[in-house]
Amino acid sequence: MYSAMGALGLAPVPRAVAGDYRPPKRADFTNNRQQAGKKVLILGAGIAGLAAAYELGKAGYDCRILEAKNRVGGRSWTVRNGTTETDLDYRAQTATFAEGDYFNAGPARIPQSHVTLDYCRELGVKLETFVNQNANALIYHENSPALANQAVRWRTAKADVYGYVSELLAKATDQGALNQSLTATDKERLLEFLKDFGDIKGRADNWAYTGSSRRGYSVEPGAGFQTGTVLGPPPSLSDVIASGLGHRFSFELDYQQATAMFQPVGGMDALPKALATAIGSTRIVHGARVTRVMNQTSGVSVTWVNPQNQPTTETADFVIAAIPPMLMARVEHNLGANVTTALRYPQAGAAGKIALEYRNRWWETDQRIYGGVTPTDNDLFTVWYPSHGYQGNRGIVVGYYHAGNAAVTYGALTHADRERRAVTQGVKIHGDKYRTELASSFSVAWHRTPFIEGGWAAWPSQTGPEYQLLNQPAGQVYFAGDWLSHTIAWQHGALTSARKAVTEIHTRVLAG
Ligand code: PHE
Repeated sequence: MYSAMGALGLAPVPRAVAGDYRPPKRADFTNNRQQAGKKVLILGAGIAGLAAAYELGKAGYDCRILEAKNRVGGRSWTVRNGTTETDLDYRAQTATFAEGDYFNAGPARIPQSHVTLDYCRELGVKLETFVNQNANALIYHENSPALANQAVRWRTAKADVYGYVSELLAKATDQGALNQSLTATDKERLLEFLKDFGDIKGRADNWAYTGSSRRGYSVEPGAGFQTGTVLGPPPSLSDVIASGLGHRFSFELDYQQATAMFQPVGGMDALPKALATAIGSTRIVHGARVTRVMNQTSGVSVTWVNPQNQPTTETADFVIAAIPPMLMARVEHNLGANVTTALRYPQAGAAGKIALEYRNRWWETDQRIYGGVTPTDNDLFTVWYPSHGYQGNRGIVVGYYHAGNAAVTYGALTHADRERRAVTQGVKIHGDKYRTELASSFSVAWHRTPFIEGGWAAWPSQTGPEYQLLNQPAGQVYFAGDWLSHTIAWQHGALTSARKAVTEIHTRVLAG
C-alpha cells in the first residue's frame, strides 16, 4: 500500500543505493604510519580489474594490470569492422561490418539502478536508451500445444493474456467465488480495475474479453473516415493459455530487465576504454598470462608469461585477482587447497551471441520494429533489433543470444554453420529477407573464448563456505569480479566487487 502511494507521489519513494561507497583519496593518509603509494598488481583488465585500478589510483596506489588478451574489457567487448578473435578451437573470425555498425558481444543493456551508470557519468561515457521491451517486437513459440509457429506481436499477446485473465477473475469475483477474500466494496473496485486492466466488457456481457485495439490493427487508423481495422479475432482462451505466451511478460517486471535501460553510444566498450584511459595505458600490460601467485612473508609475488612464454616475476604489496574463478584455480599458488576448491565451486556457463548484419533495416521498414527483443522458445532464445542507427541503411540484428545447452550446441559449430542454423531459425520468424538481405556476421561462444571460458558463473550456493572464503583476502590476495556478487552477469556486479576489494585494501593500509 505504502509503495503504491509512493508510486502516486503520496509517500516518499525509497532511495536505494549500492552501499555507501567512498572512493579512497590521497587525503586519507593522515599520519606517517600509513604508507601511501603501495603497489597493487591486478590480474585481468575486465570491468572489475579496471575499476579496481581506477579507484585505487584516486588515492595514489601504484597499480598495474596484467591482461592476457590484447584488449581491455573482458566480456565488455564491442565488435566492429576488422575485429578479430581466435577461439579455443583455433577458429578465427574477422568482422567485416560496414563503418559505424557494431555488435556488443557481451553486456549490452544497463538498468537504471546500476552503478555502471555512475561510472559512465564520472568518465563522460555518453548514454542512449536501450529498448529492452518493445510492444511491436514479436514472440515466437514453436513448441507450444497451440498457436505454434506463429510470430505474435508482443502487444497482441499481452492484450489477449491480460484480457482473458481479467475475464476469468471478473467472472469468479462476480459469481461470488472470492467472497471469502473480498467485501462487496472490494469486489466492485476489483471489477472496475479488471475492466481497465484487461479491456473487457462489463457485467451485461458477462465480463467477456473479445479483443480490443490493444491487439493492434490490420488496417491502421488514419485520416477522415479511416477508423482502422482492429486485428482480430483473438484466439480462444484455451489456445492462449496453451500457447505459453503469458510466461513472457514477467520479464517486464524483472528488477534488472525492466525498461528504461541504457547503452553507451557507439558500443559498450566505451566504458572499459574510458576506464583504461583514466588509469593510463602504461599501467596495463597486455599479453600477460599469470602463471603463479605466491604470498611472501611480506607482500606477494606474481609470475606471468608473455605470448612467447617468457616469464617475468614481480612483487607487490597486494594482488587483486579479477579473472574468472576457474582460471584462477589453474594458477599455481600458495593460497591453500581450500582456495582452489572454492575457486572451482562456481560453474562457468556457456553463452553465445551472433551478430547478423543486414544491408537494409527490414525490421523497421517492413515490420515497424524499432529496437527491442523477440523471445523464442527454440535454440535462438532471443532475437535483438538494434537500439541505435534508426532509419539508417544497414544494421545489426542479434540473431541469437542464448545460454546453456543451446549455447553449447552452437558453440561446437564452425561460425559458418552457426550462421546457417541461426538464419534457418530466423527465417521462420521473419521470412526470407532474413536470409536474402544478410551482408555479414560474427559470432561469439564465450565458453570457447580464450582467457574468459564462460558466459557467467553459477554458484551451487552463495551462502556456503566457498563464497564466504573468496569474499575475504587470502593473505595479500583479494578476489573480485561479478562472480563474487549478487548481480552475476552484470557489470554492476564487477564494479561493486571491485569497490569492495578496494575498500578492504585501503582500510587495511590505513590501519598501518
Ligand atoms: N545481464 C545479462 C543480460 O541482461 C545476463 C542476465 C540475464 C543476467 C538475465 C540476469 C538475468 O542478458
